[in-house]
Amino acid sequence: MGVRPVSPTLTLTCPLKNPILKRVEPFISPNPKSAFLDDGEIPEVPLLVFEDEVVRSSIVEICEGPCVGEMLIENVELDNDGVKEFRRRLRFKRMPNFVQSQMRICPKNVTSFENLDNMKFELDKGVLVQPYLNPMVAGISVISRFLEGQTQDTFRPKALCLGVGGGALLGFLRVQLNFEVVGVEEDEVVLEVAKRYFGLENDELIHLFAEDGIEYVKNLAKNLSEECRFDAIMVDLDSSDVSVGACAPPLEFVRKSVLVAVRAVLHEEGVVVINTIPSSKLLYERLISEFHEVFEELYEIDVGNAENFVLIATKSKVGNALEANGGAFLNKLRLVVSGSYIDSIRKIPKLLILHSENVDYRLATADPAFSSTNACAKRISNSL
Ligand SMILES: C[S@@+](CC[C@H](N)C(=O)[O-])C[C@H]1O[C@@H](n2cnc3c(N)ncnc32)[C@H](O)[C@@H]1O
Repeated sequence: MGVRPVSPTLTLTCPLKNPILKRVEPFISPNPKSAFLDDGEIPEVPLLVFEDEVVRSSIVEICEGPCVGEMLIENVELDNDGVKEFRRRLRFKRMPNFVQSQMRICPKNVTSFENLDNMKFELDKGVLVQPYLNPMVAGISVISRFLEGQTQDTFRPKALCLGVGGGALLGFLRVQLNFEVVGVEEDEVVLEVAKRYFGLENDELIHLFAEDGIEYVKNLAKNLSEECRFDAIMVDLDSSDVSVGACAPPLEFVRKSVLVAVRAVLHEEGVVVINTIPSSKLLYERLISEFHEVFEELYEIDVGNAENFVLIATKSKVGNALEANGGAFLNKLRLVVSGSYIDSIRKIPKLLILHSENVDYRLATADPAFSSTNACAKRISNSL
């Protein structure tokens, strides 16, 4: 990386509600081009918000991978409302202000906090500090009844993680929730970095593959056996197309053939949890409608940072699993997932998109459980 990236974290937000900010948005977006992609319509434009909780940072290494290009590993000190916290972060030069992965690190044998470069740290794999990872893990709660119903002593749930980065999510699923995990990362150097600097281990319970995650799923679906089905598929793929700005998952993932392959490699009672950063409301609605075509039920968690929404899709009806009293797995989840994300999971009703001459999009619910006065109607009016 020729120039060291700025240390403050910059996040994107869509302040549509503020009319003054709305007028200036196109001029201060990090990526104004993304505002004009939807057939000449002008959807909301992401606005940079300065979130400077970084006090200082120290570069650990800069290296280059064949797919992601230059990447930076750094230790940062944060000031969280007066509380000192240290984290190790991974960023790619192609999206320098985006933290791809981060993990909490704890100072070891510290005599002085003066020089960050000389401090030694150990990784804390027991907590998730990337804002959307706790909500992603909370998403697994929709199948908690199924997991709790597994009676064999030897049962261990299996997760497929598409996009490894530093591997914080994989380590957490393994250490805190006893999952066997398969991780697929397109860049072999990122995998090396995850092992060297983020403590990811390729052992009997974590299996790592350096290849394209979408191709991996498609190939697996072609040669399927019952043992290679997953209970949870966690999708955290950033888009390599920087021209559209921050966006996840990549559009290639949302093709019907890919979603059908994902469904095929999922256990009948399994769940797919996807980190999404929609670049517009319209795109998010399209994403939802694609998932509804392939999966039985769809849920969402609003991460609350005006950026990430976690989508949760199931192959079978999970019914009122969320209202059920917790068994051992749900109780464990409640213990290890910080925040109240498990209770903020919301079902997304199936919507029909109709076209009319007078109104561009008219949406109606196909789910009798939802009337026009409920959340569905809100979603409709928001999207128009
Ligand atoms: C946001 S990071 C994942 C962070 C990770 N969940 C964690 O716990 O730290 C996204 C990763 O997806 C990888 N990626 C992007 N597209 C991919 C693809 N098609 N197949 C596999 N990996 C991909 C990127 O190289 C990057 O390392």
